[in-house]
Amino acid sequence: MADADSAAGKNYRSEIPAPNEAYFLKGSNNLDWGLKNRLANIFNPDSGRTVMLAFDHGYFMGPTSGLERVDLDIVPLARYADTLMLTRGMLRSSIPPSYTGGIVLRASGGPSILKELSDEEIALGVEDAIRLNAAAMAVQVFIGGEHETKSVHNLTRLVDQANRYGIATLAVTAVGRDMARDAKYMRLATRICAELGATYVKTYYVEDDFDTVAAGCPVPIVIAGGKKIPERDALGLAARAVAEGAAGVDMGRNIFQAGHPSAMIQAVRKVVHGGIEPAEAYEFYLRQGADSGAN
Ligand code: R5P
Repeated sequence: MADADSAAGKNYRSEIPAPNEAYFLKGSNNLDWGLKNRLANIFNPDSGRTVMLAFDHGYFMGPTSGLERVDLDIVPLARYADTLMLTRGMLRSSIPPSYTGGIVLRASGGPSILKELSDEEIALGVEDAIRLNAAAMAVQVFIGGEHETKSVHNLTRLVDQANRYGIATLAVTAVGRDMARDAKYMRLATRICAELGATYVKTYYVEDDFDTVAAGCPVPIVIAGGKKIPERDALGLAARAVAEGAAGVDMGRNIFQAGHPSAMIQAVRKVVHGGIEPAEAYEFYLRQGADSGAN
């Protein structure tokens, strides 16, 4: 006989209100459950930050130094990343499906380094992103570039597709070679991306007034590492970025081109999630690198 709906013998604990907590990420409280769940697979809910390992460079640069053999050199680093940022081709060919961290798929492309880079199109459909269990799709946005309107339109079309299925959209602000990499430009570019619907935005750290870039962007910002610099400086860059409002890093060359990539990504984690000083993280890097030998 079915259980009668009587309070007797049940455990409702009516005196305890149901939790109604704010979501841990800036600007994300009003998103739907699936999208929030995917974001929690990119950003660590405990620290509110992420270490994304970026190795999508081949989509326009071909076999970049350090990425000649993703299977041999990048797969061993994946366990230290919260999220991998890569192309669907590299995901299917080289990353074991047993990987359980977040997947951020490069979703724009077209021109190679031999051509005008801002002339990109959307290069990934949302159905394939779902098939690959992606948490987010990433699109390059060229504010001030020759094909600015087209790349902004790529972003808005991708937002429409991704929102339909609760996939996050990462807008990647690309700075043309002849443009000033300053806070004024980054404020403009990041704000436009957020206003047009990006779930989060990747940009570059700038020495002066980065805090205003982060404050003016209503959704989380992560910073790209950029060209390879000395390991100590890259750790300092990550530390300053998170101290000034970034929600983490999307770092590639400064990890996979480091003298000791495995030691480097672990040191970056200590800075981003553990909040340790860059000097201490660098000491860790040297010790870990010496212990691990070549990698
Ligand atoms: C570059 O086009 C890609 O979007 C990279 O994912 C991004 O620049 C981050 O890599 P890196 O730290 O090497 O700049």
